[in-house]
Amino acid sequence: MFRHVWRWAGHFRHSDKNIGGPWYQITTGLRNLCDDIQYQIINQIHPPDELAVRFHHRLVWIHAFPNGNGRHARLMTDTLLKNTLKCEQFT
Ligand SMILES: Nc1ncnc2c1ncn2[C@@H]1O[C@H](COP(=O)(O)OP(=O)(O)O)[C@@H](O)[C@H]1O
Ligand SMILES: [Mg+2]
Repeated sequence: MFRHVWRWAGHFRHSDKNIGGPWYQITTGLRNLCDDIQYQIINQIHPPDELAVRFHHRLVWIHAFPNGNGRHARLMTDTLLKNTLKCEQFT
């Protein structure tokens, strides 16, 4: 989403921040998040709004990129609500 803004867009961070875990745990953190969310959707563990809040918090906390994580997490959460959870106010 930032390919016309930053040269490094789309590449994960390679340094630690005061938010998020060690940079080398980003890929496994994202894999775990996607697997957990998929399980929670299939088994209807949480209502859609709670699922979205949990997904957003974990994604922004992983903090995959050097910058733009807030905007990325909000876009990804809107996409989850619209495309996967079919919430009408996002369609
Ligand atoms: N202590 C915190 N707890 C939860 N989220 C945080 C915290 N500190 C920062 N964030 C999240 O990180 C974002 C800022 O990270 P950043 O990579 O600069 O994203 P952006 O450039 O899109 O604002 C904030 O918008 C917020 O979503
Ligand atoms: Mg920023």
